[in-house]
Amino acid sequence: MEDRDRWSSRAAFVMASIGSAVGLGNVWRFPYMVYDNGGGAFLIPYFIALMTTGIPLLMIEFNIGIKMQKGPAFALDKIRRGAGFIGWFALLVSFVIVSYYSVVISWVWNYIYYSFTVAWTGHAKEFFFGHVLDVSGSIANTGGIVWPVFAGLLLTWVLIYFIIFKGLGVIGKVVSWTVPLPFILLFVLLIRGITLKGAVTGLNFYLDPDFSVLLNPRVWLAAYGQIFFSLSLGFGVMIAYASYMARHSDISGNAFVTALTNSGISFFAGFVVFSTLGYLAQALGQPVSEVAGSGVGLAFVIFPTAISRLPGGTVIHAIFALIFFVTLINLAINSAFSLVEAIVTGLKDIVSAKRETITFYVCLAGLTAGLIFCTRSGLYWLDIVDHWANNFGAIIVGLMEAVLIGWIYNPEEFRADINKYSDIHVGRWWTVCIKWITPIIIITSVNLSFYSELKSSYGGYPQWAVMTGGWLLIEILFILGIIINLRARNRRKA
Ligand code: PHE
Repeated sequence: MEDRDRWSSRAAFVMASIGSAVGLGNVWRFPYMVYDNGGGAFLIPYFIALMTTGIPLLMIEFNIGIKMQKGPAFALDKIRRGAGFIGWFALLVSFVIVSYYSVVISWVWNYIYYSFTVAWTGHAKEFFFGHVLDVSGSIANTGGIVWPVFAGLLLTWVLIYFIIFKGLGVIGKVVSWTVPLPFILLFVLLIRGITLKGAVTGLNFYLDPDFSVLLNPRVWLAAYGQIFFSLSLGFGVMIAYASYMARHSDISGNAFVTALTNSGISFFAGFVVFSTLGYLAQALGQPVSEVAGSGVGLAFVIFPTAISRLPGGTVIHAIFALIFFVTLINLAINSAFSLVEAIVTGLKDIVSAKRETITFYVCLAGLTAGLIFCTRSGLYWLDIVDHWANNFGAIIVGLMEAVLIGWIYNPEEFRADINKYSDIHVGRWWTVCIKWITPIIIITSVNLSFYSELKSSYGGYPQWAVMTGGWLLIEILFILGIIINLRARNRRKA
C-alpha cells in the first residue's frame, strides 16, 4: 500500500473543495451574470446547468481522483491510455489562471493597506486605474513593473507556499478558518446593505425576472460558463483533492454539498452587492443600471465608492472597507492555492523530488509568470488571458472528460462505481447528462463563442495581442499537454 497523504477527515476534504469553488467568482461574477441575463429568470438556466453539468461532472472528477489515487493527468491516463494529456492541459491552464488570480489578490492586499485611510474617497475610479495599477495608455506599452503590486504578489506567493508545502494537514487547518470566516463577514455586510436607503431598489433590480430571456441561447451559455468557473471544474483541482481521500469514500453526497453550498453563497453575495448598489444609486441620484458594473470594476471601484459614502465617518468607512477586502482575501486564497495544489499533485506523479521542492519551484514559476500582470499594461493582458483561459480552457477539458466517460469508458459502469460507497444513489439521469446534455451544450457554446470571437476583435485590443495572449497561448498549452503526456508515460514505463 503506497502511503499517500490524506485529509484528516471527510469534512476537511469537503471544506477544501468548497474553498476552491467559492472565490471571487461568487462575489463579482455571479451577481452581475444574474442581472445581465434576465434577473431572477436567470436562476432557471443556472439551476438547470448546475443539475445537468455541474453536479454530474463534479461527481466524475471526484470519482476519478478517489478511484485512481493519482494526480489529474495520471488518473485520466489510467481511465484510458493517452487521455492523460487532458489532465496536463488542465494543469497548464490552472497555472495560467493562478498566475493572474494571484495578481488580483495582490490588488486586494494593496486595498487592505489603503482601507485604513479610505484613500480612494472621492476618486475611486482614478485611484484604482491611475494610482494603484498606474495603467499605461496601450497594451504595447508595458511601462515597467508597478512595485506595490509586485510586493502584494510576492506576499501572496509566500503565503501559498507556506500553506501547501507541508501537505494536507496545514491545508485542512487553513480552510477550517478561511471558509467560514468570509461567510460571517458577508453576513455583516448584508445586514449593513439591506438596512440602507435604496436597498430595495437594488434588490428589485437584481431579482426582477424577465422570462423572455429564456429563449435566448446566450443566456443559457452564460449559465453553463458560470457553473464551470464557479465549481472549479476542468482545472484538475477537484481530481487532485479527491485523490487524497481513501478509496471507499462517498462521492455524490460530497458533490451535492460542495455544489449547493457554492451556489448558495453566490446567491447570498448577490444580496450584499445589490443592496449596496441600490444605496449608491440612490445616493448618486442615478438608476441602478448606471452604477452596476462587473468584475474588476465592481470590487475595486464601485463597492469602494459605496463604502466611502456610507453613513458615518472615516472610521466606519475604514471598518467596512476592511471587512470587504478581508472577505475577498479569504475567498480568493483557497481558490488560488487549490490551483497550485493541483499542479503539485500532478507533478509529484512524475518527479521524484520532495513535495517541498516541487512546491517551491511551482510558486517561483507562478510568481515569475505573474510579472507581466504587474506591469503598467498588466490589466490589459489579464483581461485577454482571463477571457481565453476561461472560454476555451476549462470548458474544453470538461467536454473531453464527459466524452471520455460517456462514450469511451462505460458510463453505466462508472455510475455504479459512484453509487457503490455513496449515501445518495444517482439514477440514470446522470448518464443522460454526461452522454448527451453536457457535450451538446458545450459544443454549441464553444462554437458560438468561437464564431463571435472571429467576427470581432475581443475588447477592441490590437489583433497581435489577442493572438498571442489568447489563441496562441491556448494552442501552446494544448500541444504542451500532449508532449508532457508522452514523455511522462515513458517515464512511468521505465
Ligand atoms: N471557483 C473560483 C471562483 O469562483 C475560481 C477558481 C477557478 C478556482 C478554477 C480554482 C480553479 O472564484
